[in-house]
Amino acid sequence: RGYKNSRSTGGCIVRLVLLGKPGSGKGTQAPIICEKYGIPAISTGDLIRAAIRNETELGKRFKEFTSKGELVPDTLVVEIVAERLSQDDCSGGFLLDGFPRTVAQADALGDWLKSKDLKLDNVVYIDVPNDILVERATGRRSCAESGRTYHVKFAPPKVEGICDVSGKALIQRDDDKEEVVAKRLAEYDEKTSPLVGYYREKSLVKQVDGVGAMNEVTQRIAEQLG
Ligand code: AP5
Ligand code: MG
Repeated sequence: RGYKNSRSTGGCIVRLVLLGKPGSGKGTQAPIICEKYGIPAISTGDLIRAAIRNETELGKRFKEFTSKGELVPDTLVVEIVAERLSQDDCSGGFLLDGFPRTVAQADALGDWLKSKDLKLDNVVYIDVPNDILVERATGRRSCAESGRTYHVKFAPPKVEGICDVSGKALIQRDDDKEEVVAKRLAEYDEKTSPLVGYYREKSLVKQVDGVGAMNEVTQRIAEQLG
């Protein structure tokens, strides 16, 4: 099951989880990994932000939590993920970015996979110390149309404030203000960090140092998944 050869081998089926603190580079690395494997990237953060943008009933409930940097309730996230994983494009594998985020979510994912006679192949854990993360989050800009992520200092677009792909104006996420980022980091430490041990016990964790240039991190992930 070669990472580099997966395209030429006709796309192998892989089911991956991308784990890491807010700003660790999950959304940056996800599309690169997914392109190599030919699998969809499923970001619960993106699904939640889409519901908020579309002002759905669920979106209104989500906003109460995301605006404060808190996790949204497990039952609601599990529901949207189960629905997304049931779509056709996930039959050939998938990468989950930002899910699971609690032990209850991980158990629910395990149950869902078991009910379909499937299992996870790897959990890629991108490890970055907290002091770097605040600068990464507060400098982040993104395009709602293309989904591309930029950073004012580390990954600027060709034209300031404009997406290279769509030509649309870049936006800053509401929850990327410094005080909300601090809350998101605290939520991670309390509720999500136990998942590293949870998946280590299942021998699924591939730990990657997330400090360094983006392409270096990409290379480390490729080596781990090799
Ligand atoms: P979500 O959207 O998942 O946010 P997050 O986990 O806080 O993660 P981020 O998107 O901030 O970070 P990232 O790791 O993707 O980093 P990125 O690649 O963008 O969730 C948002 C909210 O939704 C949550 O707070 C919660 O309320 C809710 N939610 C989502 N899922 C949930 C769930 N399962 N359960 C409950 N609630 C849920 O990189 C960050 C910046 O750094 C970018 O600007 C990038 O350009 C830059 N960068 C990346 N790599 C490097 C590098 N190597 N060097 C320098 N800069 C870099
Ligand atoms: Mg992200």
